Amino acid sequence: MPDKARPKVYVTRELTDPVMQRMAELFDVTINLTGQAATGQDLIAAVQGYDVIVPTITDRIDADLIAHAGDGLKLIANFGAGVDHIDLDAAKAKGLLVTNTPGVLTEDTADMAMAMILAVPRRFAEGEQIVRAGKWTGWKPGDMLGHRIGGKTLGIFGMGRIGRAIAARARPFGLNLVYHNRHRLPEAVEAELGVTWADSIEALAAASDIFSINCPHNAATHHIVNAALIERMKPTAAIINTARGEIIDEEALIAALQSGRIAGAGLDVYHNEPHVDPRFFTLPNVVLLPHMGSATYEGRDAMGEKVITNIRAWVDGHRPPDMVIIGWD
Ligand code: 8YV
Repeated sequence: MPDKARPKVYVTRELTDPVMQRMAELFDVTINLTGQAATGQDLIAAVQGYDVIVPTITDRIDADLIAHAGDGLKLIANFGAGVDHIDLDAAKAKGLLVTNTPGVLTEDTADMAMAMILAVPRRFAEGEQIVRAGKWTGWKPGDMLGHRIGGKTLGIFGMGRIGRAIAARARPFGLNLVYHNRHRLPEAVEAELGVTWADSIEALAAASDIFSINCPHNAATHHIVNAALIERMKPTAAIINTARGEIIDEEALIAALQSGRIAGAGLDVYHNEPHVDPRFFTLPNVVLLPHMGSATYEGRDAMGEKVITNIRAWVDGHRPPDMVIIGWD
């Protein structure tokens, strides 16, 4: 608990107006309004001079930065659900609490994943580019053929909130739903979601026409989608990634797409954002989006609300509702 009711809070990016206004009412807040990610120097100053830091995915809160933290810093209240940009072990060792914003970006991210599940096999982005470039020469019976969604198998890797929300959307489209997760869901939940268990990621990859990545990025999932896994996939398969770029070995994915080893991909996340490997640009069978899965006004307000709630709970001496516990992802 801080020794003051109005903690010093550093927010690394400009958030929505309602969130920034409420933060200004409640906290002694400094917001990086440059429109750019906070610099390394900004972050060092923040961890040294503030009680709470509110980072986003564009900030690397690594062990080195945490080693700079002053005695005042107590809480890292992340604006976002994923926390792979934060060294949780280093934070714990330093006695820092870490919170995130789960739940409020589930539906928006699932909507976008579903859009890519439709867009990649049906080549919607490719078609849009042809029309936009003035290259459409008229309807032909064999033009722009893609693959029907209904009756195909959607493999969902990671059956947390977002995986389940995707399952709920995909079911009415007539997709067969197979999943793999660190832990199998209870049978009653599987039945309710209409999903079938695959006992390994390899089995899931082999069964999938569309393979959707919905797990967190951590040491266990880093590059888990690699050349060996892709080798198990059908040549007609597509990979959809709305989770984290580092879960895929991009070199292996690019090679598989170039050689036709798999048919397509839908990517919202990349290894080294905002850098996107330019080889993707030459592949028509890839839909590329700029990490916008949760980018709705409603979602951003709700994420900010969660950040505020977490900070307030801590200020009041309570356990913040969205504490990140190592090993619980
Ligand atoms: C967020 C995300 O926009 O919450 C997450 O984990 O990937 C995104 O949807 C971003 O992380 C905000 O920091």
